[in-house]
Amino acid sequence: MNKIILILALLGNAISAKAETPVIQQVAVIPRPANLQMGTEPPVLLSDKTTIGTSNAETKAVAQMMSKEMTSITGKTTSVVKTSGLITLRLDPNMTVEGPGWRQNESYVLTSGSGHIEIAAHSPHGLFNGAQTLYQLLIQTPGGAWQVPAVKVIDQPRFRWRGMMLDVARHFFTTDEVRRFIDLMALHKYNIFHWHLTEDQGWRIEVKQYPKLTAVGAYRVTSPTMEDPNKQDGAPYGGFYTQDEIRAIVAYAADRFITVVPELEMPGHTTAVIASYPELGNTDIPHWAPPSVATTWGVIPNTLSPGEKTFQYLANIFDEVLPLFPGEYVHIGGDEAPKDQWKASPNAQAAMQVHHLKNEEELQSWFVQRIEKMLNQRGKRLVGWDEIQQGGLSPSATMMVWHDVTFAIPGLKQGNDVVMTPRPTLYFDQGQPQTPLTIPAFHFIGEKPVSMDQVYNYEPVPKDLPPDKIDHVLGAEGEVWTEYIWSQGKLEYMAWPRGCALSEVLWSPREGKDWNDYLQRLPLHEAFLDRFHVNYCRQDGNPAQPGQSMEPTSHSPPNVELRAGVK
Ligand code: ACM
Repeated sequence: MNKIILILALLGNAISAKAETPVIQQVAVIPRPANLQMGTEPPVLLSDKTTIGTSNAETKAVAQMMSKEMTSITGKTTSVVKTSGLITLRLDPNMTVEGPGWRQNESYVLTSGSGHIEIAAHSPHGLFNGAQTLYQLLIQTPGGAWQVPAVKVIDQPRFRWRGMMLDVARHFFTTDEVRRFIDLMALHKYNIFHWHLTEDQGWRIEVKQYPKLTAVGAYRVTSPTMEDPNKQDGAPYGGFYTQDEIRAIVAYAADRFITVVPELEMPGHTTAVIASYPELGNTDIPHWAPPSVATTWGVIPNTLSPGEKTFQYLANIFDEVLPLFPGEYVHIGGDEAPKDQWKASPNAQAAMQVHHLKNEEELQSWFVQRIEKMLNQRGKRLVGWDEIQQGGLSPSATMMVWHDVTFAIPGLKQGNDVVMTPRPTLYFDQGQPQTPLTIPAFHFIGEKPVSMDQVYNYEPVPKDLPPDKIDHVLGAEGEVWTEYIWSQGKLEYMAWPRGCALSEVLWSPREGKDWNDYLQRLPLHEAFLDRFHVNYCRQDGNPAQPGQSMEPTSHSPPNVELRAGVK
């Protein structure tokens, strides 16, 4: 099979006079391409003025991004030209790849040798994917020149949903930090950024019709400390993204062929909403009192009331914010919604009677299906955590499976699409076994660490799934929950290189999957990540960029001072 391992090809002397000593060429691409063959020709040497040729207006944006990235990696000027360049990007509408259109759209062929590099693809997205491979093929000679070995790469992804989720609610990440997260995803050919924007502990997206969602809901007066979740730090904390900022991030991701899937949690994980607009809570429960934005982690009993006021509020929010997200999917959460308040609420009980629902689980299913209709009317598809099957799963919903694989089977049998993200394996907030005790890698107490090989060996398609259901496994996601992640340094330490391993699960053919082969490629990939100063977790457990703080210290989002003291 197309087994690509660390290939050591001792190259001859036929390199141009500029290339000093022949170098040992090491090729190590992650995620492993579907097919990579080393050529026999000498490597292609980049000059001080490398050109990227593209004659097509459609591919110009990719060429310009490449030029910037290559200049940044090599320190050599790279420019875009209309004629053919040292590197040529070519759209080839006749290029055929077996399988569905999305796969064809993302595939590419990269050829280097005889003094020229070409990336050919069916679409700009394919060219972009080829460019990510090219960056990893750039090798610096001991004398400082840059070259690309002679190779032919014919590549295409295995899964269509290759996602990473970032929780910006438990801890806030600035727009620059979010861009950086997206950059690192793009390098690994991820194509879905699942943005967890709302939570009990904070609402992070501006809604002009409901200004208190950010004026009140984006701030909490204190947070649990990292060392002891039962202790509070007493420091106001918060932040949110304006709609212009959201638009800019979505466009930034789109330039990198990454679709943003926003998550707006309901009916649970809504304490910040109810703190902002108490009328959306189950106010008819005797002695009900409005909550404050949550200051503890875990599951909190507050849920939205399943009444008309809530649906009107959600419709207004959808009308205002969904146009910011051109992607087809909207994540509505749906997880961990305790039923105690609905049990105690006369209004919720009356709704159950009116709609002939036997229990609160069916009420949740009814709630979710009503939301799904509202999304569909606005041209969107619903995705939710696997609790959306409690009380009955809508046949058209996509289910994100975070419990074990048994939670995926009923939906798959019914013909639903699923995205796999089982906890703990794909939860990148879990500790890593190699982290030394001297590093403050806080995470949930009692949780077992998850190693990179557990991630690498994860298989998204459940065993014995009938062949006609396999395409309903859209892919998988790595989840970065941030209760214990309060800095970009810590974020990168937790996400990488487990995110590298997952990228290979999602992109590379199942045949030829080989942990030892991956491990052999990893050191070169780490050297590649070093060029971007990524603070990944080294195999000895140390952070790759010791100068970057991972400490939960005084990181204060820029707009928190404005709101300090909001109760
Ligand atoms: C989840 O971890 N509650 C989706």
